[in-house]
Amino acid sequence: MSDWTIRLAERRDVNELLGIEQTQFPEPWTKNMLLDEIGNTETRRYTVAVLGGTIVGYLGVMFVMDELHVNTIGTLPGFEGRGVATSLMDDAWRDALARGLVRATLEVATSNQRAQRLYFRYGFKPVGIRKNYYERTREDALVLWADVVDLDGLKPARPTLDP
Ligand SMILES: CC(C)(COP(=O)(O)OP(=O)(O)OC[C@H]1O[C@@H](n2cnc3c(N)ncnc32)[C@H](O)[C@@H]1OP(=O)(O)O)[C@@H](O)C(=O)NCCC(=O)NCCS
Repeated sequence: MSDWTIRLAERRDVNELLGIEQTQFPEPWTKNMLLDEIGNTETRRYTVAVLGGTIVGYLGVMFVMDELHVNTIGTLPGFEGRGVATSLMDDAWRDALARGLVRATLEVATSNQRAQRLYFRYGFKPVGIRKNYYERTREDALVLWADVVDLDGLKPARPTLDP
């Protein structure tokens, strides 16, 4: 059982999201970019994990036809490794299934093994590389794709809190 709750992001969350962006990403989004994303509820779904009134993580996804695109995910520094990102992804995955989406994709820096481990647990697999994808660092991105399938089917590869 996690102590945090997950809800849809709102405009009033933007400063907290900006704080996570600025500490967790080499190329953080701006406040206006975040506001645009949160506000575009037709094609985007932004969620936050809230613990004791503080946003400890967020996830932004985008819908393109029958595909889910993971746009961004970040956990507040100091709260990593507790399952925050996993529960945000679980929530988005269930929502994607309910919407009838069939495939999911994202880009992740080749050096970002932490995030890759998270994604691999959802069945994501590398299908290609985008050279120099990240403007500031010039780092390559791995392009990952997954089938959106029932989370129960993925259980053996997922972390468990059982002793
Ligand atoms: C990548 C990122 C989102 C992961 O967030 P997180 O909240 O730490 O992720 P989780 O806790 O759900 O999972 C991470 C690890 O914690 C473990 N974990 C999950 N629940 C746990 C729990 N209750 N107790 C202890 N560990 C747990 C997982 O097994 C996982 O282990 P692994 O990385 O060794 O496989 C976070 O590190 C981050 O914000 N990074 C910077 C931004 C970034 O790179 N975003 C991705 C861009 S593509």
